[in-house]
Amino acid sequence: MRGLKDIDVKGKRVLVRVDFNVPTDKQGNILDDARIKASLPTIRYLIDQGAKVILMSHLGRPDGKVVEAYRLDKVAQHLSTLLGQEVKKLPDCVGKEVEDAVAQMQPGQVVLLENVRFHAGEEKNDPEFAAQLAALGDVFVNDAFGTAHRAHASTAGVTRYLPSAAGFLMEKEVKMLRSVMESSESPRVAIIGGAKVSDKMGLLQNMLDKVDAIIIGGGMANTFLKAEGYYIGNSLCEDKLLDFARSLLKQAEEKRIRVLLPVDVVVADRLAADAQSREVKVDQVPEGWIIVDIGSETARLFGETIKSAHNIIWNGPMGVYEYERFARGTEEVARAVAASGAVSVVGGGDSLAIIARLGLEDKMTHISTGGGATLEFLEGKVLPGVASCEGYQFVG
Ligand code: 3PG
Repeated sequence: MRGLKDIDVKGKRVLVRVDFNVPTDKQGNILDDARIKASLPTIRYLIDQGAKVILMSHLGRPDGKVVEAYRLDKVAQHLSTLLGQEVKKLPDCVGKEVEDAVAQMQPGQVVLLENVRFHAGEEKNDPEFAAQLAALGDVFVNDAFGTAHRAHASTAGVTRYLPSAAGFLMEKEVKMLRSVMESSESPRVAIIGGAKVSDKMGLLQNMLDKVDAIIIGGGMANTFLKAEGYYIGNSLCEDKLLDFARSLLKQAEEKRIRVLLPVDVVVADRLAADAQSREVKVDQVPEGWIIVDIGSETARLFGETIKSAHNIIWNGPMGVYEYERFARGTEEVARAVAASGAVSVVGGGDSLAIIARLGLEDKMTHISTGGGATLEFLEGKVLPGVASCEGYQFVG
């Protein structure tokens, strides 16, 4: 992978794709700036090198139209504060006004283009739109790991026109995710949670070739429990995937991979903050109730496996963590990973929210900034944004 230090950026116009697709409230206020902070090393390096830094990003899914709530002004303001220097937000990402503003930039200055998804050409990876973007820079740096799974004009298309390199964040993400996926140091443990099996089929399948044990929690565990013959009440379940779940369990057995499912669960009479709830053995779910978290014995057993791990890949919460009272299982797992001393790579916004809440960020080896991108990487897919940094043109 060609990195930032492999290219000459001094005095050059450097077009940088970042992923500033951050969560915002209805007024556009930034709720979590982790992705913005993660891009600072690349931006600071470019400033220090006297480059003219032209940042571009998407925000939300405006579908090729200008949507006021998805303008990047507040992101530019916040970035200015973090950098301690002005970051001018330009009114668009292509066109005469933008070209003129870029032409007047001085070395060390930073501008942020307007949301690239305000143009339909972005998601279509339209070559003409990509060429217009590329015309703003002398070189292209891709630091948007979070968007690396999208073959869009600003992530992949521009690399047809400009010499390209990976930014520091992109390099770090790829290095960390690769190292944990390719590690031969056992025991390797995958902790997979979240609501749906359908979102994680590729991940589960790929983990069968990467780890020694798979811990399954969250809503997706219900489908596995039902596949094993348990009554799960009105819990979330994907009946269409019962065969997939059975086949995965069978393959794991053949490959001698341990799969840990909940042995006890927290059940509630409905999904509400004031619902009645209690902990039961997994074969005692009351009629019509729903599973909302793993139980304490399960957390203990999961913890034992986590404690013995050398490598941990964690993606997804163990319960309906949005309700604080059903977040305990995820919190226990977070604490166990933090205390394990293992090489731990965590991806997916949900587990991250809990880790941040517990102040355990520093205890994890790597917290990925990607959601879908991390998932696809862990599924073993080639990400267009990564491939283009490695000198391949992504086709498809
Ligand atoms: C993300 O948040 O996963 C990335 O920024 C990509 O956003 P998207 O799913 O709207 O393409």
